[in-house]
Amino acid sequence: MLLDWLLQCPMPRTDPPLVPTELSVGAADKLASVGYDIRGPVHEHALRLEAAGHQILKLNIGNPAIFGFDTPPEVLAALIRNLPNAQGYCESKGIVSARASIIEYYASRGLAPLDLEHVFIGNGVSELVGIALQALLNAGDEVLVPAPDFPLWTDTVHLNGAQPVHYLCDESADWQPDFDDLLAKVSPRTRALVVINPNNPTGAVYSKDTLRRFAEIADAHNLLLFADEIYERIVYDDETHIPLASIATDQLVITFGGLSKAYRAAGLRIGWMALSGQLKHAKDYIDGLSMLAAMRLCANVPGQYAIPAALQGYQCIDDLTASEGRLAMQRDFVAKRVNDIEGVSCVTPKGAVYAFLRIDTSIYPIKDDERMVLDFLTQEKVLLAHGSAFHWPAPDHVRLIFLPNIEQLELALSRFERFLRGNPH
Ligand SMILES: Cc1ncc(COP(=O)(O)O)c(C=O)c1O
Repeated sequence: MLLDWLLQCPMPRTDPPLVPTELSVGAADKLASVGYDIRGPVHEHALRLEAAGHQILKLNIGNPAIFGFDTPPEVLAALIRNLPNAQGYCESKGIVSARASIIEYYASRGLAPLDLEHVFIGNGVSELVGIALQALLNAGDEVLVPAPDFPLWTDTVHLNGAQPVHYLCDESADWQPDFDDLLAKVSPRTRALVVINPNNPTGAVYSKDTLRRFAEIADAHNLLLFADEIYERIVYDDETHIPLASIATDQLVITFGGLSKAYRAAGLRIGWMALSGQLKHAKDYIDGLSMLAAMRLCANVPGQYAIPAALQGYQCIDDLTASEGRLAMQRDFVAKRVNDIEGVSCVTPKGAVYAFLRIDTSIYPIKDDERMVLDFLTQEKVLLAHGSAFHWPAPDHVRLIFLPNIEQLELALSRFERFLRGNPH
């Protein structure tokens, strides 16, 4: 009896002995193809050098305020005045007065009247690029992105399991897009075409004809157009910026803009995206955008109060880009000084705040441009961004921002000249 009873009893558990293990947290696989090298290892090395007491001249990020380009006082005043109204969340697409001022602004730039529901305010264009691509892409989809590009676009396409396909821009043609290359890269999986105008890092500004070609291609291949126009008000000489959405009226266009550059208020983290053109077959996509916007509740509310003041106020950026203005003079200085260095050249930027410098690799045989900017940083304490960080396919370019004053630019470029002479790579 006792034996029967014992046999029916559950056996005592023999747990394996407890071996202490360490918590191991790996990164998601989807991060493997994300580089975002402009804030990558070279930038980290610069921070380490700074922590060790070195003074680093940082010419790698387009952050106007840190180079003495202050936000217009009336823009800050609007923000400060409205702080008491900005304590709670707001509607997820943004406060109405700010979105209404964006609509008014685009009407003044030749766009058909936009719907308030199709304007989204975000924590910078950066956040909205994430939302716009996340709502669109499935694994295996492709997006046409310029090379060189502002790398956020490429990396965000990757993050969403899709494939960025780079169309080349042609340095010998003032960095205009190479449409033969672009057309050869359209496939049945292509969903969207990214246009960055004025361009970062090349400073190219596109003509009406160029914009028409983009629109025609989008039309022929059913592509959504993403127009990143955050530098639209920063153009030099007699260039004019034409919004892609004012040309591509029969396509679906999402135009991105914000306060970071022309209004020198990158720290406010305020950007917007505006949908225009053929929206009737995009209901599900627009619902997806609205859902994603709602999931992050809303953008920074105090900053949104700065939008009407910025868009409706005096555009002092025009004084900075006029021929005697500080930005234009710094641009002129860089374009001339760079071309004085043996084996280095750059196409004069027509817009934005960057020069994309070409280094003649028959004189300086560079194999690895990231290594080269790291060595330059270590030796000369100047931080540049290497061209391959912008998905440029050869190790023969670096990007320089021309926001610092001429004295600092001269210092940086004379050190670069000295470095190149002394360091064949
Ligand atoms: C072309 C381009 N788009 C978007 C951004 C991001 O702007 P935001 O500060 O609004 O996130 C930048 C920033 O440098 C940029 O160069």
